[in-house]
This record gives sequence, structure tokens and C-alpha cells, in this order.
Amino acid sequence: MSVRLAPSILSADFAHLARDIAAAEAGGADLIHVDVMDGHFVPNITMGPPVVRAVRRVAACPLDVHLMISEPDRYLEAFVDAGASMLSVHVEVLPHLHRTLGAIKALGAQAGAVLNPSTPVSALEEVAGDVDFVLVMSVNPGFGGQRFIPRSLDKIRRVRMLLDRAGNRAPIEVDGGVGLDTARKVVEAGASILVAGHAVFGGSDPAAAVRALREAAES
Ligand code: DX5
Ligand code: ZN
Repeated sequence: MSVRLAPSILSADFAHLARDIAAAEAGGADLIHVDVMDGHFVPNITMGPPVVRAVRRVAACPLDVHLMISEPDRYLEAFVDAGASMLSVHVEVLPHLHRTLGAIKALGAQAGAVLNPSTPVSALEEVAGDVDFVLVMSVNPGFGGQRFIPRSLDKIRRVRMLLDRAGNRAPIEVDGGVGLDTARKVVEAGASILVAGHAVFGGSDPAAAVRALREAAES
């Protein structure tokens, strides 16, 4: 299975986003992961459509925008218009998840459903045929640099089974605490898109970090 690496700019230097994104791409990044937080759904505030638009100008890779916000429906169009190719929304805030996934697709982006660590896989049961990808959170969302929750491995396996049963070959993305020690395990469990913030931008050489992560993931 080919693995796609999605460095999260949450751990990049916000004063040098273009430089850090170029470095991650030089190392072989496949996507740029953008963490949008509203200080309401999660206890942190990050960036919105204007920053996504600016990142779109400097990034070569498609943008994978992860909405950690309470009312995503209000902003789907703004984020796709700003340059999101993949847009993921948390099932915990969406009473009409099926409608929201359809709205993202109608805007021309890939629609992802995100599960918090405490949200059961069964929350996706009725939309398993409708998602373009599933994002399994392996930390509680809000901050970079947290420790990977080991139980996420089994959850990735169960999401894969659910998608397979629905006849959906959509990829599974994993986000939180992914690094050299966990990359191979999440791929073996069934994830093929790996988000990594601290592991890529926490050191002094993001390009080398992306190369090392790929080696670990594909070894
Ligand atoms: C956490 C974000 C993640 C975060 C991952 O709420 O959704 O994308 O940037 O960072 P690391 O890889 O450092 O855990
Ligand atoms: Zn994220």
C-alpha cells in the first residue's frame, strides 16, 4: 500500500510557513495538513480561510484541511474556495453528517469524517459508503506534540473493516503522535495517510524528518 505523508503546519514556524512547507515538500511530503481550531470545539485557536489561501499560494501539494470547529457547515465553502482539496469534519458536532459530507463533495473537495478518541467507530456506520476518507484521531485534538494513544491501532483496524463491509476503499488517515516509533504500526493497522506535526517540524530539518518518516512507514 502506498503511504501518503501529510505534515501538519501546526508545528511549523508561523512566521516562516512558506519556508517550512517548502522544506517538507523537498523531503517528499504528499499533502499539507492544516489544522483549523476555533477555541470552542477544541481549547485552542489557530487559523482560518485567509491563512489557508496564503498557504495555497506557496504549497505545491494538495491541502488537507482538518476542521476542529463547532459549526463546520457555515465555513465549508470558504475553506474549499481558499484551496482545500480534502476537507474533514468531526462527527461529534454534526447531527446531519450525511448532508455535510454531500455538501463538501458538491463543492468539489474530498470529504472526510473524523473520529475523536472517545467516539466509537459505529458513529460512521450509516455513512461508511459516503466518505472519501476517514480520519482517526490518535490524540485528543487541540494541540501538537501529544502522545499517541495505543488503542488507536485497533480502532484503525475496525474502521477498515467497516469501510470494507460497505465496499468502500476510502483511505484511513491517522492524526496525533505519529512519529518514527508509530509510523509502521499505523500502516500495518490499515492507515495510509499519516499526519505528523511535531515529528516533522519539531526538529531543525523538516526534509530529513519527512524522509525518515517515510522510511519508517514503508520499512
Ligand atoms: C491535533 C491536530 C494534529 C496535530 C498533530 O489536534 O489535529 O494535526 O498537528 O501533531 P503531532 O503530530 O505533533 O501530534
Ligand atoms: Zn489535524
